[in-house]
Amino acid sequence: MRAMIFEELGGPEVLHLVDLPEPAPGPGEVTIDVAYAGINFADVLARAEGYRVDALPFRPGLEVSGRVLAVGEDVTAFVPGQEVTSFMPGGGYSEIAVAPAATTFPVPKGLDLRTAATLPSVLPTAYALLHDIARLREGDTVLVHSAAGGVGTVAGQLARLGGASAVYGVVSSLDKAPHALKSGYDQVFLAESFDTEVQAVTGGRGVDIALEPIGGDNFRRTLAVTARFGRLVSFGNSGSAAPWQISPADVYPTGLSVSGFSLMGLAAADPRRLRQLAGAAFQAVSEGGVELPVTAEFALADAAAAHRLVESRTTTGKLLLRR
Ligand SMILES: NC(=O)c1ccc[n+]([C@@H]2O[C@H](COP(=O)([O-])OP(=O)(O)OC[C@H]3O[C@@H](n4cnc5c(N)ncnc54)[C@H](OP(=O)(O)O)[C@@H]3O)[C@@H](O)[C@H]2O)c1
Repeated sequence: MRAMIFEELGGPEVLHLVDLPEPAPGPGEVTIDVAYAGINFADVLARAEGYRVDALPFRPGLEVSGRVLAVGEDVTAFVPGQEVTSFMPGGGYSEIAVAPAATTFPVPKGLDLRTAATLPSVLPTAYALLHDIARLREGDTVLVHSAAGGVGTVAGQLARLGGASAVYGVVSSLDKAPHALKSGYDQVFLAESFDTEVQAVTGGRGVDIALEPIGGDNFRRTLAVTARFGRLVSFGNSGSAAPWQISPADVYPTGLSVSGFSLMGLAAADPRRLRQLAGAAFQAVSEGGVELPVTAEFALADAAAAHRLVESRTTTGKLLLRR
């Protein structure tokens, strides 16, 4: 079976196609005949910086949809041929993927395999950020960075469904604003001036909830526009900045909460909790309340082109590899 791997860290060109023996599922695992694999920003960070890469060579890919080929001897929840979608710690850029049964899900009713491939990573992430970490309440105002990306596209819609009174998105280029405005956002600001804009539209109060995946200076500027008793959630470092630090003086006077989240961490430590989150998040899609459009699709062998597109910072919505 064919798979995309990298043997050294570097640019998209380090990704290359190899032929590997067909894998068999171990205990607690299933093998999946992959239809589609989702592209995540974390795949790009893995390839470029070694993010969550234990050893080389490494096969990226955190999510796939497809049909179950075989199940490990103790796996009773799935049968061969069943349509599934799965979150995994790597290895999704393959014709056959090995996935933990604990983070594999039947494809929700009414969804096809292409749509199912968009679900496992960004939906539970956005749901957890808003509900479990930031504890969204009716009437809260919400600010989301990278609003037109995968997480951003669903976070805007979930915030609105969850009762936010205003949802503000931030994008790096105005070309992305129309996509964000169709994804639950009331207003979209440019990254260079979002803080001034937030202060203007909130009368200087700031927002109740801010979702921040870029880090560095962007984290600091977001902290400055989080309202009294507000909740800022850091969930990425797409700007490759040094880790942020805060001091008591940043949070005492205004009663701010600063927190973080890692879906990969949750999947490894508490897959049952991830299943609960995924159940709630997938339901929003099945019921038509949330959409995540696939905006580009590449052949497995063209994964490098997909990474180049992500790095061009021009993408919106979700990118997929097809088998
Ligand atoms: N903590 C978690 O569990 C978790 C789970 C999933 C994703 N994430 C994080 O959430 C963020 C978005 O992930 P995603 O999968 O939704 O990604 P995506 O669809 O590929 O979107 C990435 C977005 O990041 C922004 N960006 C910021 N700096 C960038 C850079 N240097 N190069 C390219 N794009 C850059 C871009 O928006 P603008 O150009 O408009 O800023 C782009 O829309 C990433 O930081 C990712 O690591 C975290």
